[in-house]
Amino acid sequence: MGMRFDLFFLSIAILCGPVLSDLVLSKVDRRIDLTTQTVRMTSSLKVENSGTDPVSEVLLVFPEHQLKNLAYLMAITNEGKGKTKVSTGSLPFDVVHPEGMPLGLTVYSVSLPRGLGKGESLILDVITAFTHALQPFPEKITQAETQLVVFQDSAQFLSPYAVKVQSLSVKLPEPKVESYTKLENTKVSGSEIKYGPYENLPSFSYSPIVIHFESKQPFAVARELVRELEISHWGNVQVTEHYNLIHGGAEIKGEFSRLDYQARPSIRGAYALKHLFAKLPPRAHSVYYRDEIGNISTSHLWGDSKKTQLQIEPRYPMFGGWNTSFTIGYGLPLKDFLFQSDGKRFLNISFGCPINEVVIDNLIVKVVLPEGSSDISVSVPFPVKQWQETKFSHLDMVGRPVIVLEKTNAVQEHNQHFQVYYKFSNISLLMEPFMLISGFFFLFVACIIYMHADMTISKSSASYVARLQWDEVQATIQQVQNIINRCLTIHDKLEASLRELSRTGDVQACKAARKAADGYLKELSKELKPLLSFLQSSPQAAQILPKVEELVAKERELQERLMLKHSAVVDSYEKKSGGREIENRVASIQQKITVLRQEVDDLLEVIDEI
Ligand SMILES: *[C@@H]1O[C@H](CO)[C@@H](O)[C@H](O)[C@H]1NC(C)=O
Ligand SMILES: *[C@@H]1O[C@H](CO)[C@@H](O)[C@H](O)[C@H]1NC(C)=O
Repeated sequence: MGMRFDLFFLSIAILCGPVLSDLVLSKVDRRIDLTTQTVRMTSSLKVENSGTDPVSEVLLVFPEHQLKNLAYLMAITNEGKGKTKVSTGSLPFDVVHPEGMPLGLTVYSVSLPRGLGKGESLILDVITAFTHALQPFPEKITQAETQLVVFQDSAQFLSPYAVKVQSLSVKLPEPKVESYTKLENTKVSGSEIKYGPYENLPSFSYSPIVIHFESKQPFAVARELVRELEISHWGNVQVTEHYNLIHGGAEIKGEFSRLDYQARPSIRGAYALKHLFAKLPPRAHSVYYRDEIGNISTSHLWGDSKKTQLQIEPRYPMFGGWNTSFTIGYGLPLKDFLFQSDGKRFLNISFGCPINEVVIDNLIVKVVLPEGSSDISVSVPFPVKQWQETKFSHLDMVGRPVIVLEKTNAVQEHNQHFQVYYKFSNISLLMEPFMLISGFFFLFVACIIYMHADMTISKSSASYVARLQWDEVQATIQQVQNIINRCLTIHDKLEASLRELSRTGDVQACKAARKAADGYLKELSKELKPLLSFLQSSPQAAQILPKVEELVAKERELQERLMLKHSAVVDSYEKKSGGREIENRVASIQQKITVLRQEVDDLLEVIDEI
């Protein structure tokens, strides 16, 4: 064929394997699923103890090239038979280094739930998932070409134990196989290739196979995915996911024609990455999808009581080697994910990526706990790297504890629930509102102090209003003084009219002067009324009001006496009384008038000084 694949040829088959134990694999059924970019292998092993001592560990080996792509490993046994089969759940395993093992192999030891006695057997299912196990070949293609990929493995199950009988079936995405390694007992039917059965194989048997086939799948690979889960005890878990995504399939070469692509997308860009589906938890809200440019509106959201589906479309169809960065964010109701047990709270939420088709080279999950959380512990159902950080956001005093979990090679199988346990007192919950309230309180106090300190500036302050009112009171009092002074002037004119009368004896002129004075005084009395009622209603005038009222009263009394005197004098003149007689008649009134006039002048002076 002229192609040279980078094949690994292990020389282990010729090595004489050490005698590890008396286990044999009496039957091995392997299935390899190549329908997606994640290669999944399920091996069903019938493990039999042919020795005399009980055995409680089974060894699994992986060559180096496989180990670096190993994303997920799980071993389970099924107790009972047929319909009464009960799974024991995932069995614990560990990397071990037994002596005499061929170089380049990594050995996992799986602990069985119970020792396997002489002649006993059990079925062990080993489930594995690998990333980057499909190599594009050719590595570069044009827009119009179909993507071809290569897969390499062994037709025989690599095992430190002898195998009595085994078979392998490989499932391809399409029934289109470019080439495949033909061994004894190889069959192709549709999109499935079968190897075996092979019988009585010694330990470490290995025969390489290469399968070259068509895959229209876009290989969506997140170089890095950072998921941040922030807990707010006010009822929300905020999830923010930052993706750095690349199409990990065959790189595109030559010109990319959008026109060609749009005209016939299924031919001119069959393996392009057009959209992704994120399966979010039910009741997810405030969902957004954005990149550096902004929100991307070509996303669709729908859901039911079991899930929320988000379909996202990158800004352009992605071909091999192209990459993009974007962020998905959503809120989740806290009560769906936060629980209590043994006096602790715990978050129970999915670890992996909500987009199933994506494989993740480096997955970082950050759990941001509320400030004041303590006694933190984490339970993840698979090995991860773990450390703690601190995050500060507004109003934080000591910062929020952040649990950081890192997993390389993450796939759909890692979409399992994990738990973060922590202690938290409700006092801490009140910390932020307390700080907010006290913050506002201090601001308020500061404002009051500021306003008192600077009355001339703050026009809305109470003291400003009071000052304004005081000014008005003073102006009113001045007007009152003014009116009283005008009254006194009229009094003087009346006195003058009487002197004129004694000189000329013109009663009519004096009566006319009196009439005019009456009119003026009436008008002034009218002007005075509103001024007095303003002063009576104004609290600022309370101090001075009695003096003003006294002044007005005295002036009125003075006015009355003056009128009495005026009338008496005019009357005496009309009756042609003598000068002496008139003087006697008004003497007592004149006395009173003099006193009153003095009092009015004094009051005017007192008020003036205020
Ligand atoms: C993007 O969408 C989110 C959620 O719908 C919204 O809160 C945000 O304001 C939007 N941002 C821009 C820049 O439009
Ligand atoms: C976490 O949630 C899952 C799914 O709801 C559930 O199956 C599992 O039992 C929960 N784990 C714990 C420790 O509560």
